[in-house]
Amino acid sequence: SKADIGLIGLGVMGANLALNIAEKGFRIAVWNRTGSRTRGFAEAAGPLAANIIPCDTLEALKDAIARPRPVILMVPAGDAVDQQVAALRPLLDPGDIIIDAGNANFRDTRRRMNELAGTGLDFIGMGVSGGEDGARHGPSLMVGGPEASYRRIEPILNAIAARYEGEPCQAWVGPDGAGHFVKTIHNGIEYADMQMIAEIYGVLRDGFGLPAGEIAPIFAGWNRGRLNSYLIEITAHVLSVTDDRTGQPIVDVILDRAGQKGTGRWSAIESAHLGIPATTVESAVAARSISAMKALRQEAEKRFGLPPSGQLAPLSPEKVTMLEQALLAGKIIAYAQGFAVMAAASKEFGWNTPLGTVARIWRAGCIIRSQFLGEIADALDALPEAESLLLTDVFSGYLDNAHTHLRRLVAECALAGLPVPTLAAALGHFDQVRRATGTANLIQAQRDFFGAHGFERMDAEGSFHNNWPPL
Ligand code: 6PG
Repeated sequence: SKADIGLIGLGVMGANLALNIAEKGFRIAVWNRTGSRTRGFAEAAGPLAANIIPCDTLEALKDAIARPRPVILMVPAGDAVDQQVAALRPLLDPGDIIIDAGNANFRDTRRRMNELAGTGLDFIGMGVSGGEDGARHGPSLMVGGPEASYRRIEPILNAIAARYEGEPCQAWVGPDGAGHFVKTIHNGIEYADMQMIAEIYGVLRDGFGLPAGEIAPIFAGWNRGRLNSYLIEITAHVLSVTDDRTGQPIVDVILDRAGQKGTGRWSAIESAHLGIPATTVESAVAARSISAMKALRQEAEKRFGLPPSGQLAPLSPEKVTMLEQALLAGKIIAYAQGFAVMAAASKEFGWNTPLGTVARIWRAGCIIRSQFLGEIADALDALPEAESLLLTDVFSGYLDNAHTHLRRLVAECALAGLPVPTLAAALGHFDQVRRATGTANLIQAQRDFFGAHGFERMDAEGSFHNNWPPL
């Protein structure tokens, strides 16, 4: 019989997604640019091969799928997607759906949808999160595009997605590029989350002078509390693993230069376009860039010297609580920023993105999965028009206590010369937001002085210009 769905691109993510689909009882036709990989994939699929139709050509792939055909693209984001769409376009029939499951820039997704308008082909941009294991056993899926097309593939997505207390972690988050936008913000939050964890690790290592083996159980302990999440869990785990070659903790032999493929940066860029600050994401992206400047950092350390290590020692239970609470505060602020960016995009593009649902489908499967997201979902449900998660009962309640710890931590780190840029960005955001009277009156005075840009007054309506005395 014919396949229910097709998939193009059998890299790790594509292959695992195909196996996941086959395992759930759907027939899937697969094609890869290098034919040997297609055959090798089917041969290695064991009993699942019964549900897999390996195809040598795109034409064969098309013929193997029942109409209307859904075809998943799992190829590197960028040109490869355009090339595959161009190759498929003449082969497919009206009603067929191309599903880009890569980490695309949502602006590319919007362009591709426009380019296909009038062809009868539908395009779906689907964010897939959860790495290799998620793709194989249950990813979180953020779907954007025509709702009717989504409804047609929904049974398959329901079957393959991760589950949180029985609820599948997949949803339609809006038309257009909404799915890829939401995935981009997921990754932006992922960057901020990872960076703040790395900063706390740095404080424990350089400020308290602890070896990796003693830091691991601290994270493991936090994983049993409010910070419980996949990223905290893997942090405890990777900190406790030793290197086969040297017998040292593996983190001590891994070079401190982080890679980045673009989603974090897009997240910061889009937040800037929308005028919604995502300073935690920006600073996390910047921190990765600075991490890549190893030579500069080596020079600068020679030139300015390094503050002594272990200045914050000894570690006490109170300090552990301070670190945990500081991380919690930073995390709340980062998520509040990320959700505010999605709310603004939803408004700007008319997506009606269900933000509570987004939080819910992030509770399992994806990289930032945690119970915390369940609390965010509940808060958003209770207060769908909340201007900021920071003002919801639950999160403002957490922050009452947590922000004082964040403040102490950032202050102690500043004095000890320990970099905590993303935690500091979070604190800066909080302090700026909770102050009703800021300092932009001075900015307005400067603008009016040098450019007659005008200003508003506190005591009268309208726009004013001052008759400034010359310098
Ligand atoms: C996920 C991840 C996944 C991947 C990104 C991150 O949600 O499963 O975010 O998409 O890890 O590639 O990318 P970089 O850290 O390489 O930018």
